[in-house]
Amino acid sequence: MRIRAVPGGRLQGSIRVAGDKSIAHRWLILASTASSRSRLTGLPSGLDVRSTASSLANLTVKARPALDLWARNVSSWVEGGGSTWNDTPAGVSYGTLEVEGEGRDGLVEPRGRLDCGNSGTSMRLLAGLLSAAPFTTELTGDLSLSSRPMERVASPLRSMGATVRTTDGHAPISVTGGRLVGIEHRAEVPSAQVKSAVLLAGVWASGETVVLEWAPTRDHTERAFEALGAPVRRDGRGVGISRFQHEGFGAAVPGDPSSAFLVAAAALTGSEVTVEGVGLNPTRLHFLEVLSRMGVTTETSVVGEELGEPVGSIHVFPRDALHATTIDADELPLVIDEVPMLAMLGTHAPAETRFVGASELRVKESDRLAALVEGIRTLGGQAAAEADDLVIAGGGLRGGVASSGGDHRLAMAFAVGALAGDRPSEVAGMEAAAVSFPDFVGTLRSLGGAIEVIG
Ligand code: S3P
Repeated sequence: MRIRAVPGGRLQGSIRVAGDKSIAHRWLILASTASSRSRLTGLPSGLDVRSTASSLANLTVKARPALDLWARNVSSWVEGGGSTWNDTPAGVSYGTLEVEGEGRDGLVEPRGRLDCGNSGTSMRLLAGLLSAAPFTTELTGDLSLSSRPMERVASPLRSMGATVRTTDGHAPISVTGGRLVGIEHRAEVPSAQVKSAVLLAGVWASGETVVLEWAPTRDHTERAFEALGAPVRRDGRGVGISRFQHEGFGAAVPGDPSSAFLVAAAALTGSEVTVEGVGLNPTRLHFLEVLSRMGVTTETSVVGEELGEPVGSIHVFPRDALHATTIDADELPLVIDEVPMLAMLGTHAPAETRFVGASELRVKESDRLAALVEGIRTLGGQAAAEADDLVIAGGGLRGGVASSGGDHRLAMAFAVGALAGDRPSEVAGMEAAAVSFPDFVGTLRSLGGAIEVIG
């Protein structure tokens, strides 16, 4: 899909956004391995979450029919442009899924490989889950996922007692469960995916399993386990967990704060927008602190909690001038998914915005360091990679044509950046947004964003 963005307009209104995929992956895994029935609502219909659901369908017996149907519905919903959803009496309706868990010991050997598609979170978290399951599972992914590093998750799982094979450090990988022992894992690269994989394995292990990180990362897994009553120990350096089998639960997935793209769109166009029903987990909100340094005022208000996750609203106030800023290496893990949109704001600041030590961007759904530089240039701005720093020159976007390169976050960031360009711009490969935010274009348009689908 190709879109044309026409600058000059303002956004306005209050919206709800799709459920958070990071949380949805985790809760689907927990629901499928609970010892009783769970009910999830607010599940997002993105393709990444479908990958986790269809993989879990393959690994379970009682939960299989509902998971399978839900995953198939997501596929036809995305392919049909959001128009088809076959509600059934089997506990599956749009965004809602009821699954019957049989506990972790109920996991069964899958027929064939598990296809994780584009989703690093599916592959890494499932590897952790499967580390003690008494059979061998092969996990594969698309071209992008097959180029992403898997040793960072394989290595600690091996130390715990699982047999994990990678293909030169990448997917396909195979996991053969073993008798696990707790370890203390000191993560070289701060990664919530690796931390979560080790914790998901840790609840099967003898003794305590500890993950230490030099910079904090999103803590959805710890919060869910705590809310389910697991023995979780946390301090400023890391998290520990011990053997535990959880029961079923009911929870509504909070909206995805990487609706940050909408927050950014509002900030760029000087608009006033409220995002309601959104997750307000502090480990996901650091981008608001960076926005404030850039001259954008926001206000959050917590109204409830779902399985340990605070939920509420983010209000973006109309701004005056944008300022440039520097994002340090130890801040980066907390804004890792928001870098593309913060970079777009940087293009419209008057001076240089720098992301220090951003090498992790090279191993996301694309080499985001290179692709952001390229996209900003083709949209008529200036950016460069200086060693591992991403440097955005500021001064505006003159207008042009950018391509997502198949990366969902780049598709959305380029569309948003283009809304504040000097002239109309085009973004090719917009369909990639379906990985995390299938109705991104429609949502932006409903707020008044001048975006036309042109091909
Ligand atoms: C995620 C963690 C981050 C993030 C990804 C989702 C998660 O990856 O970029 O989109 O759900 O745990 P890393 O933990 O590998 O940095």
